[in-house]
Amino acid sequence: METIQEKEQISAMPRIGDKAPNFKATTTQGDINFPEDYAGKWVILFSHPADFTPVCTSEFITFANLESKFNEANCLLLGLSIDGLYSHIAWLRTIKDKIEFNGIKNMEVKFPLIEDISMTIAKKYGMVQPNESKTQAVRAVFFIDPNGIVRALIYYPISLGRNFDEIYRALIAMQTADAFNIATPADWQPGDDVIISPAGSCGVAEQRMTSSDELDCKDWFFCTKKLDKQEVLSTILKK
Ligand code: BEZ
Repeated sequence: METIQEKEQISAMPRIGDKAPNFKATTTQGDINFPEDYAGKWVILFSHPADFTPVCTSEFITFANLESKFNEANCLLLGLSIDGLYSHIAWLRTIKDKIEFNGIKNMEVKFPLIEDISMTIAKKYGMVQPNESKTQAVRAVFFIDPNGIVRALIYYPISLGRNFDEIYRALIAMQTADAFNIATPADWQPGDDVIISPAGSCGVAEQRMTSSDELDCKDWFFCTKKLDKQEVLSTILKK
């Protein structure tokens, strides 16, 4: 019988703006102390339901293949499932030795994969959603910024493999919003126009609609400006 605390732990889910819950863990790359060991870096902490399963295998090959792109954007990857260390090691070896997906083969997963047999970490992050599975984590993705703050989260069910290009796009968009104090419209990619903060007074609203400066105002509340792709990339990506 589950205690009330256990039940509450299962449903607890960090929200946008919260401090990322801290934990110590054993991983395929050694022990970690989170978030202290990651100070100054963005982190994508993500869960998968189980080792040796096909959707998860396709995800790990895809994510490992993109890892250097995330690292160039000052972002480290950190995986988790409710499996033990030896299962993780055996699965990652199998991926490297035997599995090809989307033309990618011999992929070595170099980022740490956390063992969480006790579900302690998965519960802290609301990764166990009992109506989906009581024993496996769902496909959660937490974007945690260099100050250890949760900036975005994505949850997918067990049957749905994630889109890692979108995860990368979201990371770059948040970093761009921070660096340039702007917002990004639907489907934004570096080089596309960005949105400036809404007019805060009638005077500014009038000014935006009448002056022909560098803004493109579709209406007083919806103004965009150009932001050069090279400026974005040179600000965000490490050389
Ligand atoms: C999969 O990743 O393919 C999977 C994970 C858990 C249950 C069933 C399938």
